[in-house]
Amino acid sequence: MIRTNAPVFKTTSVSAALIKVAMPGLCFVTMTTILLSTSFAQTSADHLNQSLLAASCANCHGTDGKPASPAVMPALSEQKPEDLLAQLLAYRNGTQAGTIMPQIAKGYSEEQLKAIAQYLGKK
Ligand code: HEC
Repeated sequence: MIRTNAPVFKTTSVSAALIKVAMPGLCFVTMTTILLSTSFAQTSADHLNQSLLAASCANCHGTDGKPASPAVMPALSEQKPEDLLAQLLAYRNGTQAGTIMPQIAKGYSEEQLKAIAQYLGKK
């Protein structure tokens, strides 16, 4: 069925002029808000991702890289992120020997090891 009484929107010339003036500003505010909230969400997601990856190290190295007995287990939280990454990459590519770390490091991509090292390393 064809509607014959569909509403027709008419804009007066005053409101049309107002819209022309206000729209660029509104668009700017909206876009800025969207961009800011997106980058905030991105940061939180990255942080969550890093903490989830690093959680698998907690069984042995302690929560956030702080072991219960630092004399027995290396305290990852006391080392610089770049030093942690260098060791993890060495375990991964086989240039550094270990009992368990070579197998563990091979389970992660280079980007994941970087994220873990940044999360656990000394701030
Ligand atoms: C099953 C226990 C276990 C888990 C899980 C574990 N590690 Fe280890 N880690 C060790 C042991 C044991 C060593 C000593 C080297 C070896 O024997 O492999 C070590 C050594 C290291 C070292 C070298 C530290 C130093 O100062 O010599 C780094 C870095 C490291 N681990 C990072 C990690 C990270 C990152 C994770 C999580 C992705 C992780 N480890 C998970 C047991 C573990």
